[in-house]
Amino acid sequence: MRRLLLVCLWAGILTAQDAEKLAPYYPTPETIVRQMLQLSGLKAGEKLFDLGSGDGRIVIMAAQKFRANAVGVELDKDLARLSTEKIGKLGLGKTAHIINGDLLKEDYSSADVVAVYLFPGFIDKVQPLLDAQIKKGARVVSHDFEFKNWTPEKVLNIADDGEGRSHTLYLYRK
Ligand SMILES: C[S@@+](CC[C@H](N)C(=O)[O-])C[C@H]1O[C@@H](n2cnc3c(N)ncnc32)[C@H](O)[C@@H]1O
Repeated sequence: MRRLLLVCLWAGILTAQDAEKLAPYYPTPETIVRQMLQLSGLKAGEKLFDLGSGDGRIVIMAAQKFRANAVGVELDKDLARLSTEKIGKLGLGKTAHIINGDLLKEDYSSADVVAVYLFPGFIDKVQPLLDAQIKKGARVVSHDFEFKNWTPEKVLNIADDGEGRSHTLYLYRK
């Protein structure tokens, strides 16, 4: 029994270490989050995933302002805990939640919208997963970085987010 426990613990440690960090934490400004969700055409009752959800701001806005069912996947346990607490305080627990795990190991087949703010190179690892999993008509909205082998339906350039930073949003549809 003790041996089994040790093996399980070791497997857990390996899984945690195996997960690759696909981007550092660098939050999307709230004004840009709103524009990402508007660009995606997210509707009430639709399912959104944020791949690498940081402090949960995309998930929270999707649930609170767009009345979507929103799921964030976040590797960092402190960010996952913080965002789960925020969701609880806002009373959004029925329509928003955070998975503390590796975004490369989740299933996105139920997604209507996938939000992504991951860095080039790492996006290349996500692309085959989404190609294989997302359903026809699902949208992917990416902040600042393009998916190499897809053609965007729309590209939105935002010259100034109010803090002097420019952003580009890419919308893809399967
Ligand atoms: C650039 S931040 C974007 C945060 C949030 N989506 C936003 O736009 O405000 C990328 C996030 O992805 C998370 N991340 C990186 N690799 C990950 C992985 N393999 N699985 C889940 N989350 C990951 C990071 O911890 C970080 O919070």
